[in-house]
Amino acid sequence: MKKRSIAFELLIFNDVRDMEQEDQMLLEQADIAQKGSYSPYSNFRVGAAILLKDGTVIQGSNQENASFPAGLCAERVALFYAGANFPNQTIKTIAISAAAAKVEVKKPAGPCGSCRQAILEYEVKQNSPITILMKGQSGPIYKCGSIADLLPLSFDHTFLGDS
Ligand code: THU
Repeated sequence: MKKRSIAFELLIFNDVRDMEQEDQMLLEQADIAQKGSYSPYSNFRVGAAILLKDGTVIQGSNQENASFPAGLCAERVALFYAGANFPNQTIKTIAISAAAAKVEVKKPAGPCGSCRQAILEYEVKQNSPITILMKGQSGPIYKCGSIADLLPLSFDHTFLGDS
């Protein structure tokens, strides 16, 4: 039997002003993206902003549906727009901002499992890491250098036999 520990580096900022200018800008864009959230069922608003290598910023927000599973998270709304419209552009960073109507979100909301898998697909495709920034309404801001860190032992195309 072997034991393997899996660790990753998470940067925790107590003040957004301690972050790089580019990260501050993208977090602001994620806050703005939240305004487009259509979340009458959960009242949980999520905004996502993606920074492409050429400087383009793409925004997305969660879009819910009376048939709950038909809705989509903010991250994938932004990500699929990027994939569809800028297929050859490298994704540098995705910023995620969450807010709730009834209780204050006091810590960053990490992307859900399906979004992690979706982000990983693009990270593998472009062969370069995607930085993840996460914030709530108050409390610390998290920065993680690669989605692979948030999804260890992940599934990707290599399992499908296409190398
Ligand atoms: N949600 C996101 O948009 N991103 C996440 O990573 C977690 C959850 C949305 C989905 C749903 O509209 C609401 O938040 C509550 O789950």
